[in-house]
Amino acid sequence: MSTRLQAVRGMNDVLPDEAARWLWFEDVVAAWFARYGYRYLRTPLLEHTALFRRAIGEVTDIVEKEMYTFTDALNDESLTLRPEATASTVRAAIEHSLLHDGPRRLWYRGPMYRHERPQKGRYREFHQFGAEALGFEGPDVDAELIAMCAALWKELGLEGIRLELNTIGSPAERAAYRADLVRHLERHESQLDADARRRLHANPLRVLDSKNPAVQEVVATAPAMLGYLGEASLAHFEGLQRLLRASGIEFTVNTRLVRGLDYYNLTVFEWITDRLGAQGTVCGGGRYDGLFEQLGGKPAPGVGFAAGIERLIALLRESGREPPHRRPDAYVVHQGAGALDVAFGLGEALRAAGFAVVLHAGGGGFKSQMRKADASGAALALIVGEDEIKAGAVSVKPLRDARAQQSVPRGEVAARLHEFLKGS
Ligand code: HAM
Repeated sequence: MSTRLQAVRGMNDVLPDEAARWLWFEDVVAAWFARYGYRYLRTPLLEHTALFRRAIGEVTDIVEKEMYTFTDALNDESLTLRPEATASTVRAAIEHSLLHDGPRRLWYRGPMYRHERPQKGRYREFHQFGAEALGFEGPDVDAELIAMCAALWKELGLEGIRLELNTIGSPAERAAYRADLVRHLERHESQLDADARRRLHANPLRVLDSKNPAVQEVVATAPAMLGYLGEASLAHFEGLQRLLRASGIEFTVNTRLVRGLDYYNLTVFEWITDRLGAQGTVCGGGRYDGLFEQLGGKPAPGVGFAAGIERLIALLRESGREPPHRRPDAYVVHQGAGALDVAFGLGEALRAAGFAVVLHAGGGGFKSQMRKADASGAALALIVGEDEIKAGAVSVKPLRDARAQQSVPRGEVAARLHEFLKGS
């Protein structure tokens, strides 16, 4: 016997009961984006590796150790399965001159790939939906993006998702801050772990969100970014906070919040829950005003976020919110000479009229077919037996209540099905 194959580690099947929740969730998200004027964009799962190296940054966990990168042997190109979609969105905007007639609000959803250590809430194939507002200086649109998220949590009935906010200033301000931060970290180098030491010169800001208590102690006495901001950056951050307060959105400023991707400037934020254990960040984002230029485009500001669908679905499951269940309207049972042909045609005609119809397949006697009809959850059984064929009729049997079975001329079934469904 050959060995049984399994899904790749960290990549999940979503089975039908759960997939129904996904479909419903994705519909809610699409309608919510439409209400804010965001337009759907689809980009490929594969991109040139250079895109992510340039956009996300060489000294990030993603680029250093998490990308699914391979050489396309046919043309010797280095390709990478997208670990996120901001880089792809900006690449597409540049490639197709999407900003030629003004700014754009775009959204996307789909699978992303990161070779992380799998655990609850962290997978190697996971799904995001995200928004990117391109060409807007902010901070109004920064606030809008955050308010959108708050509205979605409310619509989904999700509570206890808190907002953390920070600003990481302009590149020049960050450079000045970085120099002082490095000096501080160097003074306490003996207290740093291997990871922090490695980051110390390559990407010192990332030391700020270390989870190691010894490193956190050093970080607690480090200078704070806020003290290095110039007037424009401060005004941006204050403008954002004012808009959030005006719309009643609660937040805390977390001066250690730096995010794991290098393209950010000014605004950064995360939505976090305590209900999912260690992987509690359900959504993260921020501003990336330098990214267009970094990717070879004309300078243009950008800001956006991405949310983890697996994490939000886990929260929905935990909150007990069930998606509306779509059961078949009818299950067609058939037996006897010529019955299959009639049943087949009847099923097609009813589906063309908009009904959800399951045709019994796989043989079996009348009783076992009726058991399958019942188990399908259908509201009605439509019976095509020898008597019905002789009479040119179909027997309609309500399955969810005590109403009697009725014979209906075959040509009238489609027209009368609503009436039967109304009663069930
Ligand atoms: P990110 O923080 O890397 O940001 O990911 C956003 C969200 O995706 C996370 O908060 C989390 O919910 C989910 N996520 C990330 N990795 C995993 C994983 N391995 N398993 C399950 N869920 C995961 C970005 O991706 C940026 N592109 C966000 C952005 C858009 N910034 C500006 N525009």
